[in-house]
Amino acid sequence: MGDILVRGGVPLHGAVQVSGSKNAALPILVAALLNEQPVTLRNVPALKDVDVTAQVLRSLGAHCDCCAGGTVTVDAGSIDSTEPPYELVNQMRASFLVLGPLLARFGEARVPLPGGCEIGVRPVGEHLAAMRALGAEISQEAGTIHAIAPSKRLSGAEIYFDKASVGATENAVMAATLADGVSTLHNAALEPEVVDLCHFLTRCGVRIDGVGTKTITVHGQPRLSAAIDYTIIPDRIEAGTYLLALAGTGGEGTVHGARPDHLEALTLKLREAGVAVDFGEDWIEVRAGQPLRALQITTDVYPGFPTDLQAQMTAVLCHAEGYSTVRETIFESRLRHVAELLRMGAAISISGDTAIISGRAGEMVGARVQAHDLRCAASLVIAGLMATGETRIDGLRYLLRGYENLPQKIAGIGGHVEFSSVNVEA
Ligand code: UD1
Repeated sequence: MGDILVRGGVPLHGAVQVSGSKNAALPILVAALLNEQPVTLRNVPALKDVDVTAQVLRSLGAHCDCCAGGTVTVDAGSIDSTEPPYELVNQMRASFLVLGPLLARFGEARVPLPGGCEIGVRPVGEHLAAMRALGAEISQEAGTIHAIAPSKRLSGAEIYFDKASVGATENAVMAATLADGVSTLHNAALEPEVVDLCHFLTRCGVRIDGVGTKTITVHGQPRLSAAIDYTIIPDRIEAGTYLLALAGTGGEGTVHGARPDHLEALTLKLREAGVAVDFGEDWIEVRAGQPLRALQITTDVYPGFPTDLQAQMTAVLCHAEGYSTVRETIFESRLRHVAELLRMGAAISISGDTAIISGRAGEMVGARVQAHDLRCAASLVIAGLMATGETRIDGLRYLLRGYENLPQKIAGIGGHVEFSSVNVEA
């Protein structure tokens, strides 16, 4: 496994260009399975998770080419399997999203359960309830979900999610596109990545009402057969990570290509902490200057504060003046970065789902630490940039899942991050 080496203690300055959204690209790549014509996707980030998704699509018989410059083509005209292999699904939870499209288009799918992961148990009950509502018969055999649609077609239905889940909403929207009749999803997730998937499906010829609201209505089509070219939205979590790196090191700079409307929960909190924030249609600028003020953060579904920026914000608050609290409400095991930040001299205690941070300006010192998941790795990179000396983070494989060209982007704003090995197994 490779390491990430960070040299810190210098305020970051300058401009960063944000990449395409990982969490939008993954479901949209999978949604290409619904379309009988080739699909060209642009602004797809070059990441390990995108590679794994491409392998999943190929394992089903689709042609998937990842070209330079973020263009990926998918031709799912000749699918010959509805059973992705365990070895691929096990690598990445988002692979479970193939269930809806395969079931809707071919009337059957066998998809291994993705299992738990470092941030929590992450069940798929909401995904399965949605498929059942659409008429599928679901059984579980040796850790694999077997779903069958009677007469090979799903039927439009009313679906109510007990829990607003990004993945379950995406799976259900995709399944509903090829169901007979109209489906209405109640208590659907509002995240921009769900919206981007709906926009992609609309371009493929599906009518979807209520996009971006909690009630989404999908008008099922007999088939999707439209050769389309679609550009993925910018990655709000990557953009937020760089904004936090700039603010946390007391620096200033601009994230280009970012959508300010996707990051309001973060930018409003940064302003509350005393950071000057300015923005235009596709850029956000921050100027930290002074020590930050303490914050109270609670993660929530969109438009609340994103759980995927919680670990990075926790690192930044280690240098804020006074006591901050960070409460994680989405995932049950997502405070593991705290123990690593302690190694770097941070003063944090945990009470239930809340981290209580005693901010102490300039006191973090580089150390050897361990990343436990993707955003934990990003948090430790930020902490390493804020700390004096050198930080060595074990867990490069996590960072490669979600941050395109991170060392180059950090170098562009005057920081130093290097990878000890890029030929790591994921
Ligand atoms: C997606 C994102 C992930 C982000 C998360 C929350 C992708 C590829 N990943 O993950 O980065 O952190 O949204 O914004 O887009 N739940 C259930 N039953 C279910 C499904 C979910 O109880 O059937 C629970 C989960 O355990 C979790 C909560 O709902 O506590 C939210 O999970 P969900 O929105 O489904 O996250 P993902 O789609 O897995």
